[in-house]
Amino acid sequence: MNINTVQQEILKLKKEKDICILAHSYQAKEIVEIADITGDSYKLSVEAAKVQNKNILMCGVHFMAETAKMLSPDKRVFLANPQAGCPMAEQMEPEMIEVLKAKEPDRKVVCYVNTTAKLKAVCDVCVTSSSAVKIVKNMDADKILFIPDCNLGSFVAEACPDKDIKLLQGGCPVHASVTKSEIEAAKAAHPNAKVLVHPECIPAVTKLADYAGSTSGIMEYAANSDDKEFIIGTEISIAEHLQYRFPEKDFYILSKKIMCPNMKLTTLIDVYKSCQGVDDGSAFEIKMTDEEIASARVCIDEMIRLGG
Ligand code: 13P
Ligand code: SF4
Repeated sequence: MNINTVQQEILKLKKEKDICILAHSYQAKEIVEIADITGDSYKLSVEAAKVQNKNILMCGVHFMAETAKMLSPDKRVFLANPQAGCPMAEQMEPEMIEVLKAKEPDRKVVCYVNTTAKLKAVCDVCVTSSSAVKIVKNMDADKILFIPDCNLGSFVAEACPDKDIKLLQGGCPVHASVTKSEIEAAKAAHPNAKVLVHPECIPAVTKLADYAGSTSGIMEYAANSDDKEFIIGTEISIAEHLQYRFPEKDFYILSKKIMCPNMKLTTLIDVYKSCQGVDDGSAFEIKMTDEEIASARVCIDEMIRLGG
């Protein structure tokens, strides 16, 4: 079978089995093409709550499928590749956060959506990279503990100077691998290019960029700008998607290291096999108890309320 045939088969199976495919923008082009909804973490969360189909298939990483399940608890939610997890989501345990909360009960805990459901259950508000600044500004609290990403947390703290934001050591190993000297070298190699980076990068990198924002923020900036050249400082798929969409512009990757091995685990064949397997038990279904959903959903509902 070639790629087009597999894509056609997936489109048929989607209809037959009433499946909605959600794909994060870091997924490969051939997956984005057959998805019903693509976007950044915030868009996927909001759209997951509105899905009418019986089944949702997430092409992304585990916490994204878990979030979709929490927002559509009556649907069956599947993850296209069960091994695709985000290392940042596993960095902190709820017990540690409970200890910190007991020490400072008036400090509200804001968690990045890249966290497990059991960690979300002990947090007050969830954020995504595109909604973090707005949500923290809208919160009725001045003292905040931001977990787990200290780079996104620093970015939020800089944008919200009136808030007292405490950070812990955590973050995305992929984005945080980019160094200041790499961004300097990329700028020297492409002096006319605008540099667009994700706030999961270290502050020394975001400070040298022309724009720092979420995946969709970066894509919108490139789409709306009159500039012709861009250095893209987020997962390398984004430079590729943008290059297809805007062939008259040039997109360069900031670093070869920004390739997320977890996002890249999902293949078109995984999507095909998952679609085949939704009714026979072979696709990987997200299972959560009502209690797990209810306790973790509070901070997701707060995200949608404060970020909407
Ligand atoms: P956004 O989709 O919120 O930009 O996050 C990027 C990311 O690393 C997802 O895992
Ligand atoms: Fe996790 Fe970073 Fe990969 Fe996103 S890019 S899934 S934050 S490791």
